[in-house]
Amino acid sequence: MRDLRAVVAGIKGTVKFHAPLRDYTSFKIGGPADVLVEPADVEDVCRLARQATAAKVPIFVIGGTNLLVRDKGIRGVVVSLSRLRAIRDEPHHVVYAEGGVGMPTLIGHAIRRSLSGLEWAAGIPGTVAGCVVMNAGTRLGDMQSAVKAVRIVDPKGRIVECPASRIEFSYRRAKLPKGIVVGVWLQLKPGSRQEIERVVKDYLRYRKDTQPLTLPSAGCVFKNPGKEPAGKLIEAAGLKGMRIGDAQVSEKHGNFIVNCGRARAADVLALIKKVGREVERRTGVTLELELKVVGEA
Ligand code: EPU
Repeated sequence: MRDLRAVVAGIKGTVKFHAPLRDYTSFKIGGPADVLVEPADVEDVCRLARQATAAKVPIFVIGGTNLLVRDKGIRGVVVSLSRLRAIRDEPHHVVYAEGGVGMPTLIGHAIRRSLSGLEWAAGIPGTVAGCVVMNAGTRLGDMQSAVKAVRIVDPKGRIVECPASRIEFSYRRAKLPKGIVVGVWLQLKPGSRQEIERVVKDYLRYRKDTQPLTLPSAGCVFKNPGKEPAGKLIEAAGLKGMRIGDAQVSEKHGNFIVNCGRARAADVLALIKKVGREVERRTGVTLELELKVVGEA
């Protein structure tokens, strides 16, 4: 604990010891962080990175949406970038967004500026930094297509700028230099506000019609394995509605697990295992997790 106090010494932002991470995840599941920090600004992130490296304490950055935190939580420091929310317009249709900016806010900004290039992300609830780190995407597009460069705080607390050409993007993955993504430059293009708005609205309606957006979840559980989407395979295996504790395979979309009340991470993991096994037994397809599982069981 003394180490942790040294790691957070001088931080201007919010510092909470034993913070329950269910309050920071869209799944509303997860044990405590030893210490949770919401840095006030990038300078705070630099200080935290420097002090954590010196004390050899791990840092985990929590976006919170495509994530399952196990029931005993996360050791060390958990960082939420929720206070890094600035958006800045730059020349040549480039928008700079701090890491904690939510995708819905960013899309709203792009619409107001008649900038196209993020419509594919309509309805993705995550932060822009989280979306870069996992190369978030839908069938309309992905983060790779919009990122121009990222700003990273490295483990020594230095600010590094990394152009997209140095990021290795693949399906739902991005290999970035080690550190914390505190900002992203997006290369957008001028478009018709009406048309951008129409695409976004249509897409939001589609998601509302096909996904269980009113219950806590972590979005899609599995990556789409190939031609047949995971949700379709799960439905064909008759697994919709299957429940362990308060974790349930959504009746609306097979690739969602919803938290019907007080689901524990252990319930979700047991359900994931069952679904994976059953789909494999029936179809021979091995499903791979899209959501990230972290923390101690
Ligand atoms: N389908 C079924 N049964 C189901 C679910 C889907 O038969 O229970 C069928 C649908 O009828 C459709 C096809 O499967 O023909 C594809 O379904 P959908 O359009 O819902 O897309 P998806 O491939 O399941 C992807 C993304 C979603 C994103 C949607 C909409 C992945 C793993 N998922 O889902 O992203 O919202 O497209 O664009 O790529 C996420 O990443 O967290 C996420 C939810």
